[in-house]
Amino acid sequence: MPIRVLITGGAGFIGSNFIRYALDVRPEWQIVNFDLLTYAGNLANLEGIPENDKYRFLKGDVSNLDDVKKVFESGFEYVINFAAESHVDRSLYDPGLFIKTNILGTQLLLAQARQAGVQRFLQISTDEVYGSLGKDGLFCEDWPLKPNSPYSASKASADLMCRAYFETFGLPVIITRSSNNYGPYQFPEKLIPFFITKALNDEPLPLYGDGLNVRDWLYVEDNCAGIMAALEKGKPGECYNIGGGNEMTNLEITKFILQDLGKSEELIKFVKDRPGHDRRYALDISKAKSELGWRPVMDFREGLKKTIRWYLANEKWWRDILSGDYRGFYDIHYRERR
Ligand code: NAD
Ligand code: DAU
Repeated sequence: MPIRVLITGGAGFIGSNFIRYALDVRPEWQIVNFDLLTYAGNLANLEGIPENDKYRFLKGDVSNLDDVKKVFESGFEYVINFAAESHVDRSLYDPGLFIKTNILGTQLLLAQARQAGVQRFLQISTDEVYGSLGKDGLFCEDWPLKPNSPYSASKASADLMCRAYFETFGLPVIITRSSNNYGPYQFPEKLIPFFITKALNDEPLPLYGDGLNVRDWLYVEDNCAGIMAALEKGKPGECYNIGGGNEMTNLEITKFILQDLGKSEELIKFVKDRPGHDRRYALDISKAKSELGWRPVMDFREGLKKTIRWYLANEKWWRDILSGDYRGFYDIHYRERR
C-alpha cells in the first residue's frame, strides 16, 4: 500500500537529505515536497530525483492558508514539517518573519492535518528550545523551554502549539529536537559550510566571541534515520532528542577545517559575539535509544572530512549560491561584528 507523505521545507538542507533517504529506504512512499523556495530553498538540492508518482514538488507557503489548503487537497497519511526560517543570526534582524513562518506556518499545517485526519504529524524542532547549558549536564526532553533567540523562541512556540493540538484535539503529533546538523547541501551561512567556503576562497573566518561555544554535532544522515524512527516508532504526544554526542568548540572545528584544507590558522578572525549567543548545547539521547532503537553512527571527524570533500566536489553548487542575491543580511551582520 502506498503511503502518502507531505514533506514541507524539502528543498532545504535537512529536508532534501531526508527526501533522498526516504526514497531509498521507503519505496512505498509517495512524497509531496511543499516548499516556498526562499533564499534557503534550492531545487538543485534535489537534482537527479525525477518527478513521478513517488515524488512531486509543489511551491507554496506554509504561512498562507490558501496554499496550505491547496496542498491538503490530496490526502496524506504522514506530515513532516521541516519548513522554517532556520538561521539564528537572521532572526536578529527580522523576528517577525520567524514568527510568521515558524509559528503561524506550523499552526496552519496542524489545523489542516487535523481536518484531514492524518495518522502522524512530525514536527522538526531543535535543541535550541532548551536554552543554554553551563559546562556540565545534558538537556533531556522534560527540560524547561528557555529559548534565547527570536529563532529558538519561534521554534519553542511551535512546539507548544504542537503539544496543544495533541492535548486538545488528539492530533497524533510527535516532535524531534535535534542538535546541530552538518553534511552535504547545507546552505553556506551555517558555521561548517560557511567556514569551508570562506577558507577555500582564502577569506577570513569570522569566529564569534572567544570561539569556545560548544555545539553537539550530528551528521545529517543520522538525523534522517532518527526522524524516520520517531515517525514510525514514536509515541504521539512525545518529544525525542536526536543528538550526535559530538561536543566540539567552534574553535576546534575551525582549526580542523583549516588543517584539512591545508590553510593557515591566520585566516581565523575573532569578531564581536553574536547577541544572546548560547554557550553550550548537549543532548541526552537515552529516550531515543531505548524507545526508538536509534543511535547516531557517524564518527565526527570522518563525517566532517566527508563533508569537506563534498564541498570540494560540488563547488558549482555553492558558488552559484554565493553569487546569488542573498547577501543583504551578510553585509549588515558581519559589518556589525567587526
Ligand atoms: P534550511 O533553512 O536549509 O531549509 C528550510 C527550508 O524551508 C527551505 O527549503 C525554505 O525554502 C523552506 N521554507 C522557508 N519558509 C517557508 C515557508 N513559509 N513555506 C514553505 N517553505 C518554507 O533549514 P534546515 O537547516 O534544513 O532545517 C530544517 C528544519 O530543521 C527547521 O525546522 C530547523 O528549525 C530544524 N533544525 C535544523 C537544525 C540544523 O542544524 N540545521 C538542527 C535542528 C533543527
Ligand atoms: O542547535 C540546532 C540549531 O543549530 C538549529 O536549530 C539551527 O537551525 C541551526 O542554524 C544551528 O544553529 P546555531 O546557531 O548553533 O548554528 P550556526 O551554524 O549559525 O552557528 C554554530 C556556532 O558557530 C554558533 O556558536 C555560532 C558560531 N558561528 C557561526 C557563524 C555563522 C561563528 O562563530 N561565526 C559565524 O560566522
